[in-house]
Amino acid sequence: MDNWTNIPNGALDRDFLTQVLLHLENTNHPQLHEIFRKLLEKPPPLNQHSMKTQKSSWSLVKSKLPLFQKSIVEGIQCIPSQIDSLKFGVQSLSSRVEWINGAICCSTENPTWGYNFAEIISPGTGACGYDSLYLHDLLQLGLYVQAPGVNYPPHAHDAEEWYLVLSGNPQWFVNGEKFTAKPGDFIHHPPRATHSMVTSDQPLLALWMRTGELDGAYWFIDESLPEASGG
Ligand SMILES: [Fe+2]
Repeated sequence: MDNWTNIPNGALDRDFLTQVLLHLENTNHPQLHEIFRKLLEKPPPLNQHSMKTQKSSWSLVKSKLPLFQKSIVEGIQCIPSQIDSLKFGVQSLSSRVEWINGAICCSTENPTWGYNFAEIISPGTGACGYDSLYLHDLLQLGLYVQAPGVNYPPHAHDAEEWYLVLSGNPQWFVNGEKFTAKPGDFIHHPPRATHSMVTSDQPLLALWMRTGELDGAYWFIDESLPEASGG
């Protein structure tokens, strides 16, 4: 597969990635730009595992998770006009990706289905890298939906991460800094930075991407404990 147009939905996905790159070009992350440029020249391999399983899993999500379904529909509807160019791609991808519940993926107790990830591109290894549509060694790229009134608790990971907010106005915390995010914001989580998000009465819909130590660790931060010395 050396041409996007030879892949089912390939032209659409290429257009989506082109639009994402336009947003990234306003930011100072040359290594990420370079990965995207190469991606646009030549599509990454399709993830054969995902092609076999995605339809049944999407049906499961739709039938059993009304909170998730409501959040994603509302999240897409609320994408504002200044980033409207991403809407069609997000809509198409949201129905083709494999949605993963954040709590289950990260083995926390009491999964609420309040926050859900889907991978569009990933290395295809590790606990959460199994069901992306495309395979790539250097990039994880996906969608994220967080229902209203949900706390995605403080956590960190070795990989470097960025979120492009598509809709919603959550409180966002990065290494002790707190701000209200808005659509179009491009938020950076340096490697091992503590971050968390709390949604208001609107769902959060975002595009997320990671580079660097993609097979590194991911952990939750227990803020009730004192900071470990030297950490
Ligand atoms: Fe993160």
